[in-house]
Amino acid sequence: MKKRILTGITTTGTPHIGNYIGAIRPAIEMAQKNDESFFFLADYHSIIKNQDANKIKESVEQIALAWLSCGLDTSQTYFYRQSDVPEILELSWILNCVTAKGLMNRAHAYKSATSLNENDPDKGITMGLFSYPVLMAADILMFDSTHVPVGSDQIQHLEMTRDIAARFNHLYRPLLTIPEPIIEDKNKVVPGLDGRKMSKSYGNVIPLLCNEKQLKKSIMKIVTNSLEPGEPKDTNGCTVFDLFKNFASEEEIIDFQKAYDEGISWGEAKEVLFNIVNTEIEPIRSKYEDLSKDKNFINEVLEDGSKKARILAKDKIAQIREVIGITKIS
Ligand code: TRP
Repeated sequence: MKKRILTGITTTGTPHIGNYIGAIRPAIEMAQKNDESFFFLADYHSIIKNQDANKIKESVEQIALAWLSCGLDTSQTYFYRQSDVPEILELSWILNCVTAKGLMNRAHAYKSATSLNENDPDKGITMGLFSYPVLMAADILMFDSTHVPVGSDQIQHLEMTRDIAARFNHLYRPLLTIPEPIIEDKNKVVPGLDGRKMSKSYGNVIPLLCNEKQLKKSIMKIVTNSLEPGEPKDTNGCTVFDLFKNFASEEEIIDFQKAYDEGISWGEAKEVLFNIVNTEIEPIRSKYEDLSKDKNFINEVLEDGSKKARILAKDKIAQIREVIGITKIS
């Protein structure tokens, strides 16, 4: 049976090299295989933490542009904006009604937010944050997804989705497909400028959609140690080397290892890294520049995507409404 792979992209910020290596590139590779794939912009998730309307809009646009510039073939995949498929929100409410509050109390994201509060544990906690996993379950269950690629921080959310689906199936009829996780390799964490995981919240990102000069400037800022040119350098735990590996062939990796043994200077090593990253990014950058000129293009792509997705969503929600007794009175 064909797998049906689905993943959501929260629309906050602009894409960086970590997103490219960790999410965009593998997803596009996956989409080229025989399975069916669904990639969507989770804008209703992004309003939980961000109330700046312009930022939300800009981020949706930048992320959509990034995926398209990286070569996502929208004729082979379902690529849509969550908010363009209102059936997802409808399902989200229905799932809320079968989800145990106790299950949501255990969500890591919610628990860590309450644990930061000193007196009133609910301070600053919205219902959106609390029921985040239910909306995510609706995203997944709406389309009978069989497989969901997740990072380690999202494994619990997928388990909750499975619980919620099983509960619904038990209470009504087995209409919902229980999805399997595809768990990301932990060793594949992409380091940022300071060696910690590349993340916007750490302020250590290398941007994806910038010009050549900015890319170089950013790479030159990678933190290294004070070993002099000529001194052998360790590739283990070295950010420059770890980033390089994500763009290089086996042979190129062996050559770079040799250069480290022979005492390449940090300046030269960064130059090598810049060149290999830039070579891969160049066509993406030029496509991005082309696509950015035509704002309507993204809208058209997203409109097409949601049309395709809604055919499935409408059919599914009709079946769901039927089993729960929310249908026309005949
Ligand atoms: N919660 C996910 C994240 O922060 C994004 C997301 C929303 C998602 N809905 C999803 C991922 C459905 C997979 C499936 O990364």
